[in-house]
Amino acid sequence: MAKRKGITVSRQLMDSQMLHPEATGELTGLLNELIVAGKIISAEVNMAGLADILGQSGKTNIQGEEVQKLDEFANQTIKRRMEQCGYICVMGSEEDEGIIPVLDGYEGKYTVAFDPLDGSSNIDVNVSIGTIFAIHKRKSKGKQGVRDDLLQKGRDLVAAGYIIYGSSTMLVYTTGDGVHGFTLDPSVGEFFLSHPEIRIPERSQYYSVNEAYAKYWHRNTRDYIDHLKDLDYRGERSYSLRYIGSLVADFHRNLIKGGVFLYARDNKCTDKPEGKLRLLYEAAPLAMVVEQAGGMAVTDDGRNILDIEPTDLHQRVPLIIGSKEEVAMAKEYFGRSST
Ligand code: AHG
Ligand code: MN
Ligand code: MN
Repeated sequence: MAKRKGITVSRQLMDSQMLHPEATGELTGLLNELIVAGKIISAEVNMAGLADILGQSGKTNIQGEEVQKLDEFANQTIKRRMEQCGYICVMGSEEDEGIIPVLDGYEGKYTVAFDPLDGSSNIDVNVSIGTIFAIHKRKSKGKQGVRDDLLQKGRDLVAAGYIIYGSSTMLVYTTGDGVHGFTLDPSVGEFFLSHPEIRIPERSQYYSVNEAYAKYWHRNTRDYIDHLKDLDYRGERSYSLRYIGSLVADFHRNLIKGGVFLYARDNKCTDKPEGKLRLLYEAAPLAMVVEQAGGMAVTDDGRNILDIEPTDLHQRVPLIIGSKEEVAMAKEYFGRSST
């Protein structure tokens, strides 16, 4: 007997909206539009090997990185839906240098920052990738939004989440009332509630870091990782290293099973002294999700990711995120004077 289909994400959004009598339905509408974009991207990702959508687009983005065809497809898909949805006044994308306007007459009260496709290096080898989104309320008055509407700290996010295109396509999001996970049933094109009220285990099983950079790490990072390796996991064994190279995939595994992910400062690239990950559309939205699920997210000098005031759309930030115990331990290590 097939498992009865449960609650759809549209139903869940309506239920959450009804908890807030002052709600106008615009946030629900915005999330529904992002979900449609996610379904379109999911269909393309799942067909990637058959369509002429693998490989590089021949372009490089503001990050100076090769843009994959699927990066471009995902970016265009989200921008086209967002510019005429009527719920946002401005958007920011990893793939676009400046702010992205909406169509005249379609300005709304929210903003969205997004990483259209995270984990691009994994696209052509069929490893999980994802889309990350962060939603704020606009601060400016008038019609089109401005840069400052996007440069708001994570603590003020009204919603954040990701869609992971993996063995199944899942949507995980929070609007500040806990974290909920939905799995796409492609046969009906609906996301059904599969992981209600996600809580990240207090203690990790996994640590996720690119060990190839160990020789570039600052002293505190090396000491912390060495410490993790010496620790027993409840006396049976030490942690396992799991590193996929897609932040969304590494984060999702750690959210469900318990784990700590690090992309700390290192001396590898002089042009990325703060590490590789971006605050607005990678670190901050995932920090909201993890805090809502009972975890933590800090920089490698102990600051809470959600309290960082952004100064640039693409600013990078060191990120330690995951189970509370291990992130708190990291804070202690990273708080030491780096010798
Ligand atoms: P993106 O594909 O959006 O540029 O993000 C890739 C990021 C992140 O997903 C992942 O954790 C990290 O790059 C992996 O970086 P390294 O290959 O340097 O480990
Ligand atoms: Mn990314
Ligand atoms: Mn990306």
